[in-house]
Amino acid sequence: TPAELMLRRYAAQGLAAEAGRIALDYFGRKESLGVTMKGAQDWLTVADGTVEDFLRARLSELFPGDTVIGEEGGGEASDAVWILDPIDGTANFARGDRNWCISIGFLLNREPTIGIVAAPSLGELYVAQRGQGVTLNGQKIAVSDTDDIRRASLELGWSPRLPSQRYLDVMSRAYAAGCSIKRAGSGTLGLCNVANGRTDGYAELHINAWDVAAGMVIVGEAGGWVSDFFAGDGISKGNPILCCTPALASQLNDITGIS
Ligand code: IPD
Repeated sequence: TPAELMLRRYAAQGLAAEAGRIALDYFGRKESLGVTMKGAQDWLTVADGTVEDFLRARLSELFPGDTVIGEEGGGEASDAVWILDPIDGTANFARGDRNWCISIGFLLNREPTIGIVAAPSLGELYVAQRGQGVTLNGQKIAVSDTDDIRRASLELGWSPRLPSQRYLDVMSRAYAAGCSIKRAGSGTLGLCNVANGRTDGYAELHINAWDVAAGMVIVGEAGGWVSDFFAGDGISKGNPILCCTPALASQLNDITGIS
């Protein structure tokens, strides 16, 4: 019901703020981060596990009928599933770069429905609910009105999960079209930055559900175009993602091959 969804949104907002304080405490004490590598360019710190355990425990307590999937602990999908990234942009976090965040998404019947993103070291909290709008620190936000690719800024995400050549092909098509390209290291904040108009698009050829579940609601409510990430095996295996201003969608579909 609408009341049950609103309850989830308020609860997740409060938990994101609390989780933000836990993570920020680690961020300030670099020596206790316990950095390890899960794989090539795939970073892990003690904070990732601590924040995820905290969020899982609180969400299961508050909403025992919902399931929870997290980057570090896995989990099962269901009709009412929370999808968590305890720290997105872990490599940034471990290096002392402030561009990282906590991402809490909620999917109802596979539809991204609630998106909360806390970026505590930037002092930013995004709150979105499908059909109810999106705010950044309480103020409404909207995507930019950029419609000319030669004025557009596109963030391109990357990971070693796919062959490098595929990223290079997209990048060269984007440069050839006259796009300005950047990479800031958090897929979730990449989506949030489309929503607030700081960039005009975010694309990545493979990304995991926890990196985009919340951001997709945030971009959609800000008036952006969002690719159908949850098609097929999106929840369990990941998919490509493209989010952008509506006016750039068809050009960026062609450049990235993502629709
Ligand atoms: C990564 C970041 C990165 C994206 C990768 C993700 P993590 O997530 O979002 O920007 O390009 O695909 O795996 O490991 O920092 O949570």
